[in-house]
Amino acid sequence: MSISMTRRHFMQAAAAAVLSRFSSGAVAESQVTGGSFMRRFGDGRDWFFEKRFGMFVHWGIYAVGGWHEQHMFRKKLSRAEYLPMMKQFNPTKFDPDKWLDIAEQAGMQYITFTTKHVDGFCMWDTKQTDYNVTRTPYAKDTLAKLADACHRRKFPLCLYYSLADMHHPNYPAAGRSYELHTPEPGDQPDLARYIEFVKAQVRELCTNYGVIHGFWWDANVIKYRDPAINAMIRQLQPKAVINNRGCDDGDFGTPERDWDASVNTKLAFEKPIEACQAVGYQSWGWREEEDYYSDAHLIRSIQKVLGKGGNYLLNVGPKADGTISAESAAILHRVGKWFSKVRESLIGVEPAGALTTNRDIVLTRRGDTLYVHLIKEPETCSVFLHPLTNQPRQATLLNTGKPVTCDVPDLPRLHSQTPDRCLRIKHLPVNERSTAGWVVRLEFDKLPLSICPAER
Ligand code: GLC
Repeated sequence: MSISMTRRHFMQAAAAAVLSRFSSGAVAESQVTGGSFMRRFGDGRDWFFEKRFGMFVHWGIYAVGGWHEQHMFRKKLSRAEYLPMMKQFNPTKFDPDKWLDIAEQAGMQYITFTTKHVDGFCMWDTKQTDYNVTRTPYAKDTLAKLADACHRRKFPLCLYYSLADMHHPNYPAAGRSYELHTPEPGDQPDLARYIEFVKAQVRELCTNYGVIHGFWWDANVIKYRDPAINAMIRQLQPKAVINNRGCDDGDFGTPERDWDASVNTKLAFEKPIEACQAVGYQSWGWREEEDYYSDAHLIRSIQKVLGKGGNYLLNVGPKADGTISAESAAILHRVGKWFSKVRESLIGVEPAGALTTNRDIVLTRRGDTLYVHLIKEPETCSVFLHPLTNQPRQATLLNTGKPVTCDVPDLPRLHSQTPDRCLRIKHLPVNERSTAGWVVRLEFDKLPLSICPAER
């Protein structure tokens, strides 16, 4: 194994500790960095590296249809055909504290809320258009209510905003995704004027609702580039982290659902990312007949992303009455129950994938404690950590709190594994209970920084 190989794996793991005293014995002794492997912004945005799991909320008048947040676009409706949604929007049961209770019970620590989706409908009291929530039967500023609750509970609030807009008369609709097929009669497509409207709205959002912790752009179909917009957000809201779907690169990437291979292939994310995923397979907004993901799928997805150093945003779509459905709340409750048992293995840790060649697991560590995340259904009752040969002092299945046993046996050569001795976690109760989200904590006296294994 060459030093350059060593360095590559080391970089992949994004470990910030100094690669020192590496010897050809394949074990590098070093200090670990105590969970601070990720580059910091060095300013108010650093909350993002402390609070890693958030709630995404897609809520708008489309909830009335109970089908999809892009109801208007996907059903190819005209504005007149879509208007009844606005006329019926009256979420009398909306109580932001209930949303935040559900989020907190799930272990979530921030919330990202759709202020305007591709239909162009605004969930705040904007002075830039009447197409907003104060003109519905509900007549109240939903964002203001949510912001008040967030500030009272010191719960960071981030704002989602779609650049695509099916309602604004100046938006240059050209039949692309999330656009009207052609402008409607009377529209005056004019990109410059539309961008002035966007800027005025962003200014409102960043001025009238207290501290905002993030800005989540979406649907930049027009591929508009203008760093001045994010610069304005930064000036008005210095704590706001900005995603990469706006008019410049922003602060963090946004791998969505399971579409980005990097979530599976990388040992660690070199740059800040926040993966997003909905509890439902088909829609982000409320869908009456939703096909919900299994807990196991969501939990493994969370393990992969948090375990590799990313943030995770899990979405629910509240109903038209303002409540989060019983099904969605139950999913978050179960995820939260799991998360509360394994939290120490995902928060305040660093990715440690460079300690093994086993890609059926994700490793994280804090000091000399290693956490083994089973991200695939195990095929046997043992987990092998090639080529690690250190023995832990203690091993615990965090999900049950029960001890597990480990050894470093001589393994009969299977497909000529090298080396053929390695740390084995054995006799896992794989037939007794679901293995979803299992995490084994291994406490060592001394754990190497990286053994930089050659890939199999
Ligand atoms: C997808 C959906 C969009 C949703 C977004 C959230 O791009 O098409 O409606 O808002 O995901 O990331």
